[in-house]
Amino acid sequence: MAGAGPKTLPERGESRFTAGRRTTTLDAMTDTAPGALDTVVAEALRAGTRAPSPHNTQPWLFAVRDGEIDVLLDESRVLTVSDPDGREAILACGAAVLNIRLALARRGIACAVSILPDRTRPDLVATLRVGVGRRPPADDVRLAAAIAERHTNRRPFVDSPVPSVVRHALIRAAREEGARLMLLTEPAAFDAFAALLRRAEHLQRQDEAFLAELEAWSHHGERRDGVPLSAGGPRVPDEAALALREFGGAARRAAREFERQPLVAVLTTPGDTRRDAVRAGQALQRVLLTVTAHGLQASFLAQPLEIPAIRAELRTMLGGTDHPQAALRIGYGHPGTPTPRRALDDVLVGHSGER
Ligand SMILES: Cc1cc2nc3c(=O)[nH]c(=O)nc-3n(C[C@H](O)[C@H](O)[C@H](O)COP(=O)(O)O)c2cc1C
Repeated sequence: MAGAGPKTLPERGESRFTAGRRTTTLDAMTDTAPGALDTVVAEALRAGTRAPSPHNTQPWLFAVRDGEIDVLLDESRVLTVSDPDGREAILACGAAVLNIRLALARRGIACAVSILPDRTRPDLVATLRVGVGRRPPADDVRLAAAIAERHTNRRPFVDSPVPSVVRHALIRAAREEGARLMLLTEPAAFDAFAALLRRAEHLQRQDEAFLAELEAWSHHGERRDGVPLSAGGPRVPDEAALALREFGGAARRAAREFERQPLVAVLTTPGDTRRDAVRAGQALQRVLLTVTAHGLQASFLAQPLEIPAIRAELRTMLGGTDHPQAALRIGYGHPGTPTPRRALDDVLVGHSGER
């Protein structure tokens, strides 16, 4: 049963709300009337569903009970070709955890997060104890406002550099969740990454199983998961520095010039366990929301991370200690296009994971 097993103690970076003042009831933390709490939790879970996920698979399930929210991995939504270990799906669940935390923070409600709290339930990604911990910081309230505004943006950005104050904010955002954001600002590092990216993109484009999976999750807007063609970008010209993933249709769209100097950032963690991936997911989302809050756009460059040998090369390129978890292209541009999400009813389950 979810949460019935031994709870691991929260570790560094899991949550700033786990230390300090604790309360036993939610009402002591907030002015929320008992009936209104359901509304607040529902709002937080809807924010959870706004998290990014590979091919918009939305691989999460939520269970609510006695002041606790469980975030579970929906194994049936793991991409078997591009993500056989489910690492990216776990990243997505971690991103959903952060959104839930921030949406509660926006209502003045703290929560304590236990990552993988039950050894016997690897699908139980995290349990959030609502109303436990320190009062959320003002920064989290500000970031919560960015949840609905954040969209992956696969279109060309303008050629304006990302100011150093924003770069530092992004690095801090990752650090706050126990991860590291490496900005590839040196031309040699950028070129080396771009070469790995092009190689990985080339391999994936030759892989029929990969293409079939990509096609299966691309559509014309008739579904509440998967990537609608409207969210795709134009075709990247052959001479462009970075290769972007083409979601159905992009190949048929005219090539457009892309920015010459995109900011590329790689998110890394000290280890490569499932726990590291949950943490990386929260860090990824804090970075993305910080991007949005500063009026910038981002898209993913996941190809080199999805091919184990190329991921290992990337790790070596970055110094050989930390493990790369996600790569982003960041810059200024017109707002990205929203993608659909399944209704809350479709992702709510009983606390043993039963539908
Ligand atoms: C771990 C991970 C890897 C992703 N990789 C890519 C990618 O390589 N290319 C891409 O265009 N989008 C990628 N995405 C973005 C998803 O397609 C996107 O989050 C999803 O379609 C939902 O859209 P939204 O981010 O605009 O809400 C990735 C997302 C996650 C969480």
